[in-house]
Amino acid sequence: MSQVDVIAIDGPVASGKGSVSSGVAKALDFHVLDSGALYRLTALACMNQCVDLSDAAAAEKVAQSLNPLFKDGKIYLEGKEVTDAIRTEEVGLNASKIAAYPGVRKALFELQRRSAVADGRDMGSVVFPEARLKIFLTASAESRAKRRYNQLKEKGISSNIDDLVSDLKDRDRRDMERSVAPLKPAEGARILDSSGLTLQETIDLVLAWYRESKA
Ligand code: DC
Repeated sequence: MSQVDVIAIDGPVASGKGSVSSGVAKALDFHVLDSGALYRLTALACMNQCVDLSDAAAAEKVAQSLNPLFKDGKIYLEGKEVTDAIRTEEVGLNASKIAAYPGVRKALFELQRRSAVADGRDMGSVVFPEARLKIFLTASAESRAKRRYNQLKEKGISSNIDDLVSDLKDRDRRDMERSVAPLKPAEGARILDSSGLTLQETIDLVLAWYRESKA
C-alpha cells in the first residue's frame, strides 16, 4: 500500500487528540479530520429522530444519510449549528454506543477518507492504515478526567471529577472491547503518553516524529 501524507492520531477519551491534532495541523497547514464528530453527529441525529440506539439497522440508516457541514470551525446538521450540542457527555456516550455497530462504521468510512491530521479511535488501524505517521495518544485516566473537567468548566458547565473518571473508564472499556475496530494502538503506531507533557510539548513531539518520518 503506498503511503499517504496523513498523521493518524488515535487514543482514548480526553487524551488530548483534538487539541494536539489542531496544533499539528496548524503548524503543517493540514486539514483536520475529527472522526469522533461524525460518530457524535450520527448519535445526535438518532436522538433528534427518536431512533432507538439499540437498533443497529436504524442507526446505520441514519449514518448513511448523514450530511454534515463543517465550515469556519463550526459544525451544522440539517442546516442547524450543532458545534456545542454534539460535545455533551450524553451525546459522547451515545456516540460510543452506535460506534460499536459495523454498519455505522462502514457508512462513515467514505466520509472519513476524504481528509489529513485524522483523530479518532481507528484512524491508524482501519481508515488510514497507510498513514505516514501513526500515533496512539494516551494519558492516565486521572489526568484525562482533569482535562475534561477544565474543558467543561471553560464552557460554564460544572461537573464532578469522580463521575468523569468513571464515565471515561466506561467509555474506554466499551471502545476497547467492541468486536469491530476496537480502540488499540495500530500496527506500527508510536505510543505517546502525554500525562506529564504540556499541549505544546505534545504537539512539538508529533511534529518532530513527522519530520523524522519524512527524512
Ligand atoms: O473522540 P470523541 O470522544 O469525540 O468520540 C466519540 C465516540 O465515538 C467515542 O466514544 C468512540 C467513537 N469513535 C469511534 O468509535 N471511532 C472513531 N474513529 C472516533 C470516535
